[in-house]
Amino acid sequence: MRIDKLLANRGFGSRKEVKSLLKSGAVQINGVATKDSSKHVNVELDSVTVHGELIEYKEFIYLMLNKPQGFISATEDHLHDTVIDLLEMEDTIYKPFPVGRLDKDTEGLLLLTNDGQLAHQLLSPKKHVPKTYVAIIEGEVTQEDVEAFRNGVTLDDGYETMPAELKIISSGLRSEIEVIIEEGKFHQVKRMFESVGKRVIYLKRIKMGPLPLDESLELGEYRELTDNEVLQLKNYTKN
Ligand code: URA
Repeated sequence: MRIDKLLANRGFGSRKEVKSLLKSGAVQINGVATKDSSKHVNVELDSVTVHGELIEYKEFIYLMLNKPQGFISATEDHLHDTVIDLLEMEDTIYKPFPVGRLDKDTEGLLLLTNDGQLAHQLLSPKKHVPKTYVAIIEGEVTQEDVEAFRNGVTLDDGYETMPAELKIISSGLRSEIEVIIEEGKFHQVKRMFESVGKRVIYLKRIKMGPLPLDESLELGEYRELTDNEVLQLKNYTKN
């Protein structure tokens, strides 16, 4: 791999910035300063340092985004902004993609990664990874709705959902609820409420499997998962 690509991979800025970093003499390969951005390094064997600090190549990236409304969960779209537009260039380099989808008007926890295997595990219907949402519902959510969700409801296309755990936080002309589902059908939460004659007017995902949304992330902000969080996710989907 070219040294400039490796440095860009590790977040040392744009191509131009990487070039001037190299020019400054701050970069060494196996203890020898190099100013040549086209120089090749073996990421497994060569030791690369910047200002004396060891730089390691990273294959996978795992991001937690607090998705705002107005962005679609895709990597490309001709018409709309995608969640990838919210990422810094130093992260898009890894070609992350969203793990599943949140609707354009849904907010909250969205994982992005380039680890296809983990994404596949998290999305596999066999794994029953629970997803927790909070929502505001037009109308009064009742104990009958809680019961209906517990038994599974029938969606508009005849699909019978798995049992879902519905909790009423407050109920009135508008109700606030929390719901945990273990599936990920298209518009599932909205359609589950439609099946009991109600409409979701606000939806936010707050947890996926073992991973809660980091409350310190403002809408549109994201951060890398910690090694421990990645491990938790991997362990969660192991069996
Ligand atoms: N259910 C929905 O209806 N929409 C989402 O974005 C996620 C779950």
